Amino acid sequence: MFNPSQFVEEIRPQVYNVTKGEKVVAAVSGGVDSTTAAALMYTLLGDKVIPVMLDTGFLRKGEAEKVKEMLKNVMPLEVINVEDKFFSALEGKKDAEEKRHIFRDLFYESISEIVKRYNASALVQGTIAADWVETQGGIKTQHNVLVQMGIDTQTKWGFKLIEPLADLYKNEVRELARFLGLPKDISERQPFPGPGLLIRSVGELTREKLEVVREATGIVEKYLEGMASQYFAVVIQNKSKIDREISSELGKEVTIYSDKATGVKGDVRSYGKIAGINVELNYPKIRDLVSKITRHDITHVGIKILSTEKGNYSVIIRAVKTEDFMTADFVELNEDILISIAKELVKIRGVAEVLYDVTSKPPATIEFE
Ligand code: XMP
Repeated sequence: MFNPSQFVEEIRPQVYNVTKGEKVVAAVSGGVDSTTAAALMYTLLGDKVIPVMLDTGFLRKGEAEKVKEMLKNVMPLEVINVEDKFFSALEGKKDAEEKRHIFRDLFYESISEIVKRYNASALVQGTIAADWVETQGGIKTQHNVLVQMGIDTQTKWGFKLIEPLADLYKNEVRELARFLGLPKDISERQPFPGPGLLIRSVGELTREKLEVVREATGIVEKYLEGMASQYFAVVIQNKSKIDREISSELGKEVTIYSDKATGVKGDVRSYGKIAGINVELNYPKIRDLVSKITRHDITHVGIKILSTEKGNYSVIIRAVKTEDFMTADFVELNEDILISIAKELVKIRGVAEVLYDVTSKPPATIEFE
């Protein structure tokens, strides 16, 4: 059983030993992990800790202000705008791992400047066990996994790295957050990945796609709050064609989209195709169909909820239930709610259709990139 009070007492001397009275910068993304890591350090070291939030342009609508407000009685938070630098380096990039690598390098270059500006010696970040287990397993390059991948931050960017939550799993982080007195809005918050909407603008990054996903995210979050462990929207290009072979094998029309998405099959990362099917909402039958479809080079399957005539984009709703985020089951949402969400989503300019992702992890991952 995890004991948060004991955890804090055990980590206290280690933290003093590493920081040696010097200042440290804590990167806060607004997600539960990074915020808890920063709050833990703030509890131990007070104003030797400088909590910062990089506004990379891939945050949700109003996120920086929201997080600042949520934390106002916990610790100060400086929001630093680096939007232009990130967008210009990533615009037009398509490949999931390339996007993640560029994001990671820019992120730490920016942090390195901030560390120097404050004359600090280390960076605190909220890496947790699941992050490095999956990155080491080659499933994806999680942006915040460095040491475990043999990257020496001191040589590369000039700061030490402190990861106080590296051995904890998500439910333990939430317990610690509650113990530290973080507001419920933070401790019970659904996770939000460091690279944010970048990895939910699936495939080629364009300004338009990013704005569509930002709008869509707000809508999906409004409807699904409290109904899943993690719930969000992704946007892909509405470009697909029928796969004759799979369709005839299953006796159902299966369309394949031009964008790709990550999955995990037999503990190995796969970057496969996204399929769409048009079926009635009978979940046992859907599960059976999905297990057959994902035997092919397909990592995510969406059922078509609503379509209109025009628009370049398809929005895919994702909602999963999970304890540890290492495996996850999609939520069997009812038709009424799916249709209500879809009706709002198709009002966004450029959205031609809405799908619901009915793939669990494995063989999909929770995110698409
Ligand atoms: P996947 O997609 O691997 O996601 O099933 C598992 C959990 O990790 C989150 N995630 C990230 N969190 N930086 C983060 O801080 C990242 O680069 C990142 N990538 C995925 C994801 O949202 C899910 O909760």
